[in-house]
Amino acid sequence: MALATPHHASSEEEAMILQAVRELVAEKVAPRAAEIDELGEYPQDIRKLFAENDLLGIPIPSEYGGLGGTFLTYVKVVEEIAKVCASSSLIVAVQELGMLPILIGGSDEQKKRYLPKLASGEWIAAYALTEAGSGSDAAGSMRTRAEKRGDKYILNGQKIWITNGSVADVVCVFAVTDPEKGANGISAFIVEKGFPGFHVGKLEKKMGIRGSPTVELVFDNCEVPAENLLSNEGEGFKIAMKVLDKSRPGIAAQALGIAAGALDYAANYAQERMAFGKPIGQQQGIGFMLADMKTEVEAARLLLYEAARKCDEGADDVTLWAAMAKLKCGDTAMSVTTDAVQVLGGYGYSVEYPVERMMRDAKITQIYEGTQQIQRLVISRAVVGKWKPK
Ligand code: CAA
Repeated sequence: MALATPHHASSEEEAMILQAVRELVAEKVAPRAAEIDELGEYPQDIRKLFAENDLLGIPIPSEYGGLGGTFLTYVKVVEEIAKVCASSSLIVAVQELGMLPILIGGSDEQKKRYLPKLASGEWIAAYALTEAGSGSDAAGSMRTRAEKRGDKYILNGQKIWITNGSVADVVCVFAVTDPEKGANGISAFIVEKGFPGFHVGKLEKKMGIRGSPTVELVFDNCEVPAENLLSNEGEGFKIAMKVLDKSRPGIAAQALGIAAGALDYAANYAQERMAFGKPIGQQQGIGFMLADMKTEVEAARLLLYEAARKCDEGADDVTLWAAMAKLKCGDTAMSVTTDAVQVLGGYGYSVEYPVERMMRDAKITQIYEGTQQIQRLVISRAVVGKWKPK
């Protein structure tokens, strides 16, 4: 495992970081959330704010310019931001996702070259695995090719659904170097936006996370210096999977934050809104709904924090725990936000109130970084193994 031992922020240090994040989020992010969704623009002001407050490299070791914090602190920070703005929480989560291939598979030279700029937020990162015909079947259906010519690799192909692709300075790209070898013929590359043949394609219009750009990336004889290969040829898919083991908890944290934010809003509303002579929260129909929402949020939180602790410990079963956290938190986000809209009734359906945005934002957490079906596949393989025909 290439990750350096995190310096394990004490719970006191973590509490200080979280208090500062809560204040920042309340003052600067919450007032912008509805507008970010409505305009559908990447919020450069929020990116700058997070960079200035050292939130973009929390679990990156301090020798590479990060905070040297734990994954547990990192997921708690993502959760706090997602309580008010899912798009903004992705600025932190996808910076991590884009940096992790370098942290996990990079040489010391590559880490020194790229991580400090990414951890400080001077540069933005993205992670390019998915293709039009290759979402869940990430290895088997990958078509983007990388061929070595002299001291360069030439990349050809397209990636889609790439979060941050249009604002990224650096993209970690996965491409086939040996089509005969399946998953073991995939390699990983660090691609800078200025490399010849790198183009940003179509910008997707989406149901939610509208302040987070999702784009197509096109590699048209894209020239990548051979020194930008991560690890060795054929190691790319394993790097991609090890990254997802560490980044799925970040998406789980986003999902949990969305759920917790929706629950808070619905609970406050239920204490004020009167019907039949008393607050609706005192009516059993709504009170029990809020009870179930609270129980789901707390259960999801326990699973997530345990998964994050496993990441910090470098536990053997981190793949399983990351998948369980993503599954539980994503499903909780969807059910809790749907119920929050119900608690608010007609108001919940109106854009004047934040819960409809939260419900739209929740949906993606059941789809990206591996659909809920893929999480179940990963979990079931941990339980019964992967079947191999004889
Ligand atoms: N760690 C290390 N190695 C791993 C691994 C892990 N977690 N998982 C698999 N591998 C290795 C296997 O051991 C195997 O190596 P060997 O051949 O040497 O044994 C190799 O990788 C291939 O693995 P599998 O046989 O398990 O591969 P598979 O084709 O059956 O599928 C999968 C695996 C779990 C379904 C995988 O394809 C997967 O996770 N798919 C979903 C992809 C995904 O999550 N995409 C998200 C894109 S990112 C995103 O969404 C970001 C965003 O927008 C914010």
